[in-house]
Amino acid sequence: MRIRDSTVVLTGATGGIGRQLASEFAKAGARLILVGRDQVQLEALCKTLPPLPSGALLGHQAMAVDLLSISCRRKLRDLCAQQDIDLLINNAGINDFNLLEDADPEMLNRQIELNLTVPVLLAQQFLPLLRRRPAAAIVNIGSAFGSIGYPGYSAYCASKFGLRGFSEALRRELADTSVRVLHVAPRATRTALNSDRMVAMNEALGNAMDDPQQVARFILHRVRHDRWGHCVIGWPERLYAWINAMLPALTDGALRKQLPVIRRFAASESTVPTNTSNSDLRGENV
Ligand SMILES: NC(=O)c1ccc[n+]([C@@H]2O[C@H](COP(=O)([O-])OP(=O)(O)OC[C@H]3O[C@@H](n4cnc5c(N)ncnc54)[C@H](OP(=O)(O)O)[C@@H]3O)[C@@H](O)[C@H]2O)c1
Repeated sequence: MRIRDSTVVLTGATGGIGRQLASEFAKAGARLILVGRDQVQLEALCKTLPPLPSGALLGHQAMAVDLLSISCRRKLRDLCAQQDIDLLINNAGINDFNLLEDADPEMLNRQIELNLTVPVLLAQQFLPLLRRRPAAAIVNIGSAFGSIGYPGYSAYCASKFGLRGFSEALRRELADTSVRVLHVAPRATRTALNSDRMVAMNEALGNAMDDPQQVARFILHRVRHDRWGHCVIGWPERLYAWINAMLPALTDGALRKQLPVIRRFAASESTVPTNTSNSDLRGENV
């Protein structure tokens, strides 16, 4: 897909991965419509992006939108309806690392809404705009936890499994149109999405954490080279996703061994457990 002179609507633009996506797509010549909830942060981000060619009719735009609000989503669609939109990147997301019994019910619901319902509704709202373009795409940012159910993340996994299924169905539904669908599933990435407890648990278990710029470059590369469909970022996570699909009992066994450690980190509300020796933990990856 041609990135230069395209217009990209990016949700979650002020987040760790979002900022890097904005920067990489802008460097490649795209015009960005940045969506988050904080107008000041969005405008500051806009100013850091490489300017568009002097002949461009519109510059980068910032739009503060609470995606959980129907009226805000409508406002976003109305703003975009006046423009040519080539790419919608559903990137906004939240998570909450907690055992189900300890989780706040409202937070459980919010994860499903923002990570799954909102991308579905935005895709529906934007499809008529995307279909006006000769080549367009929807990129859904999922997670490796959309292929591997992981203790402590049950609602997050449910939302990301759902997003993967939605992306697959939509890709097939649009196969005879000019709109392509890409579902990218990053593994753990160093952003504010991960609390100190989550980072500490990943370090203790030896789970790799990517740099958000790497993730953004990977996504840009896929879009630029028309590599649509589904992709998990990182090795061995891609292999684990495959094993989990083929032989889930193997993953059950591996995660059963990690469970005491996961429980300990999940139980520590605000402090990171210190009584966990690394030798207890290593070599127990999924
Ligand atoms: N980081 C990881 O380890 C990781 C791994 C796999 C997948 N992912 C996925 O990658 C995507 C980006 O994650 P990230 O790590 O960049 O997260 P992040 O740094 O926490 O950023 C989240 C973004 O979502 C926006 N957002 C949250 N609630 C919103 C709402 N109600 N309405 C509009 N925007 C809202 C935030 O905007 P505000 O500034 O308004 O809060 C922020 O821009 C997510 O879908 C996540 O699930 C992340």
